[in-house]
Amino acid sequence: MSPHRPVPESLALLTEGYAWLPDLLRAEDDTALNLRLLGHPALVVRGPDAVRFFYDERHVRRHGALPGPVVSTLFGHGAVHTLDGEAHRARKSLFLPLLEADAVAGSAEHITAAWDEAVPGWREQADVVLFDAVGRVVTRGVCRWAGVPLAEDEEEALARDLLAMVDGFATPGARHWRARRARSRQEKRFGALVTEVRSGAVRAPADSVLERVCRHRDASGAELTPRVAAVELLNVVRPTVALSWFVAFAAHALHRWPGNGRRLRSGDAAFATAFAHEVRRFYPFAPFLGGRAVTDLTWEGRKVPAGGLVLLDVYGQNHDERLWKDPYAFRPERFLERPPGRDVLIPQGGADARTGHRCPGEAMTVGLLEALSRRLADLPHEVPAQDLTIPLNRVPTRPRSGMIIRLTGAPR
Ligand code: HEM
Repeated sequence: MSPHRPVPESLALLTEGYAWLPDLLRAEDDTALNLRLLGHPALVVRGPDAVRFFYDERHVRRHGALPGPVVSTLFGHGAVHTLDGEAHRARKSLFLPLLEADAVAGSAEHITAAWDEAVPGWREQADVVLFDAVGRVVTRGVCRWAGVPLAEDEEEALARDLLAMVDGFATPGARHWRARRARSRQEKRFGALVTEVRSGAVRAPADSVLERVCRHRDASGAELTPRVAAVELLNVVRPTVALSWFVAFAAHALHRWPGNGRRLRSGDAAFATAFAHEVRRFYPFAPFLGGRAVTDLTWEGRKVPAGGLVLLDVYGQNHDERLWKDPYAFRPERFLERPPGRDVLIPQGGADARTGHRCPGEAMTVGLLEALSRRLADLPHEVPAQDLTIPLNRVPTRPRSGMIIRLTGAPR
């Protein structure tokens, strides 16, 4: 980036990192607090009741809440994330099939097949940077599942762009501008694909994600413009590739606490689910979520005027000792003892995905993380010396090395 290019100021609040809101709340020994952010009054909340408060459309709206640089990299302009009310409900219907069991099973089938195709190549390499390797595997698998045509020689560039869009959303500087370029390249490419499908030049498999996006109609009855259709197609493909972060974390957990690998290899399905939930709870991904107050609001005696910011402390809630015993211990067993409460475990948002903004890809994420963690546990490997620190002032963070593994044998 040129040294004269302005740093988007709204990113500054994200670069404070994962400990920012939890530290402020700890200092107050409270679950809510008032702040001033970028010159605006803000209310920070946490806890299952606060989740319901935050997801009530009468309290919090999303339009105009997300910083421009986040929309320009992570979600895309006009994305479902930025809509409210009827417009949101109509657009969200496009994503609801992702919640169904056949989407969870279908995506896992294609992505584990892509993993199995990649393993022989990994065996020829001395070291495999798992974060990058999983990015390519998931890109191949999710495109096949979603009906998006992708030549083998295009896979690596697409994977790199999808990872860049996630990696650069919260950071001023080179990572941010790389993310913008990646998004603009892929919106053009996916937009052209939508136009080709609509003209009949490319055939989209019946009822595939590609076909549904191309024929979707908004609340007004109009079809999506090719650019917005591209944005929403990317809103399925891109976050699926973001599984790279969680798989790198799963590898980190298997290395630090090897007993988990033994239990995953035993084929205990309930344990695999619990392990996936604990990876999503324990490791940092989304630091917080934000919206704007629809009207003057009061929460636990704290006020925020209409238009003020309301922030839900996601990372803090997933580590709140009021909700979790030994929150900083990695213990999948906690989810065998008690299944995750809807508004308690919120790495992908809270409340109901059918009616609110909660992530519609959560069941897919859990299914894929279970399947890929089991594949990883079945893959004899060692973890050579490397920098495994996970810096909490980097958003999104990951093991600094990208999680390097060295294969020592054929999959079990
Ligand atoms: C929304 C996290 C995977 C599609 C969200 C939100 C979070 C999130 C925090 C915002 C919730 C809110 O604003 O209230 C994640 C993480 C993932 C993941 C950490 C795994 C690494 C997926 C997958 C898909 C997906 C696999 C699709 C296949 C979406 C969409 C939204 C969303 C479309 C917007 C929903 C709306 O605004 O109504 N996700 N997600 N995500 N996610 Fe995910």
